Formats: sequence, C-alpha cells, structure tokens
Amino acid sequence: MLIAQLSDCHIAVPEDEFAKLYHPTAKLRDAARHVNTSANRPDIVFLTGDLVNTALREEYDILREVIREFEMPVYLLPGNHDDCGLLREMFPEHDYLPKEGKLNFTVEGWPLKLICLDTNIHGKPQGHLGPEQLGWLDQELKAETARPVVILLHHPPFKTGLTSMDEMGLLDMADFAEVVSRHDHIERILCGHLHRAIQARVGGTVAQTCPSTSHQVRLLLGENNALGTTFEPPEYLLHYWTEESGLVTHSDYVKDYDVAWTFDGEM
Ligand SMILES: [Fe+2]
Ligand SMILES: [Fe+2]
Repeated sequence: MLIAQLSDCHIAVPEDEFAKLYHPTAKLRDAARHVNTSANRPDIVFLTGDLVNTALREEYDILREVIREFEMPVYLLPGNHDDCGLLREMFPEHDYLPKEGKLNFTVEGWPLKLICLDTNIHGKPQGHLGPEQLGWLDQELKAETARPVVILLHHPPFKTGLTSMDEMGLLDMADFAEVVSRHDHIERILCGHLHRAIQARVGGTVAQTCPSTSHQVRLLLGENNALGTTFEPPEYLLHYWTEESGLVTHSDYVKDYDVAWTFDGEM
C-alpha cells in the first residue's frame, strides 16, 4: 500500500498578493500531475490541512477543481487556516466528513486503519483536541487491534524547536501523547502545519510532519523566534506499507527532475 501525504497547499484567489508570491494553485496542480504520473503512484492521497489560505468560499471552489485532477481517492483534513463548516458544506461528495461536530473520520478497507483528527480551533492558529475527541480516538484504537494504525492530524503533537511555530502548536499534546502511549499498534502519526519534514518520538511511536506543496517555513531553531518562509522546492511524503517492513516514509519533489540513469538489468 502506498499513501501520498500532501500538506498545506494554502490555495488563494489569483488576485491575492499571497497567491502572486507563492502560486499555490499552480503548485497543487503540479502535485496532482506528478502523483498521477509517478513511477510510485499512490493508492490514496491525504491533504493534511491548511487546504486554503483565508477560508474564502472562492478558495474552496478552486481547491475542488484542483483535487478533481487526482486520479485516486483524496481525503481532506482541516488545518488552522480552514473553516470546518465551509469545508463540510462545500465538499458534500467527500461523504467521509461527518455531517455535524468535529471533522474526525476513519478510513477503512486497507491493511492499515487510518484515523483522522480535526485539531481546528475556529479563528485561532493553535490546535486542540479536547477530552471528547481524545475519548473517540481511544475508542477507535481499542475497537480493533489486529491492524496497525496511522493517525493523521494537522498540528504535530510535539515541540519542533521552531519557536514561532511551536507557539501555534497543539495545546493538549501531552493528553494526546498519553492516549497514544496506551496502544502499541500505532505505526505512525502524520501531521502538517510545519511546512517542513520533521520527525520526533511521541507516546512510544514516531510522529512526522510533511513539507508544503506551496512554500516552506524557514528553519530557525531555538532562541530565535522569528518566522520566515522560503522557496525550498515543494515536497510531499510517500508512506510505503508492506507487511514485512511496516510503514517506511520517503519524501519526493513535486516538480519533475532529470533522472541521471536507471539500470534495470541483472546486477
Ligand atoms: Fe500551513
Ligand atoms: Fe497550519
């Protein structure tokens, strides 16, 4: 099984200065074309939040058009830049999204159970889960222990060392880690929000953030609490599952690049 994780596409209307700077729509189109034609074509795609930049209806209209270009199922998670009500209203065909309440859902039918959590706090950059969602997560984890689980959520449940981004982090990350630590069949925790690839240990398993398809956050660690962005190349993650090796994560660029050589004969 091959899962593509794309994140933080931050779609904006063309006349927005943000769109003129980062070209997020063209870059997500590049990503769709790349994923569709890749030698490593995924079975399913997750967009792990910050789907649009300012939660305008017009931005979600653009997003809908672009995600139709993906030739495999696409699952949408909300980020702090999203409006969960609008997302639910404007994507009725994404019927895995609950009709009311938080946008938590589980994707079934694969060797892995995929549990998606909504960390959005309306109007705030931080994320939060709260006892109700953590209780739901615990129940989902208890409900089946035969298959490994991947948990997806926008805000990473760990401090990254990028101080300014950590100030916009998951407020109840310790409570989340406590629930995770009760279960030994969680293969990975997959997140967005950081616009960089970062890994850390959380509750006895591995958590990973995904780069953005639009723009990356400048790597400024420690005391430096400035916030910047860069034009590092758009990237996404490929999570490759086999029974033998478990889940192995690769990163790939969205833009095409030259292949130096490929030897496909006998070694
Ligand atoms: Fe973002
Ligand atoms: Fe975010």
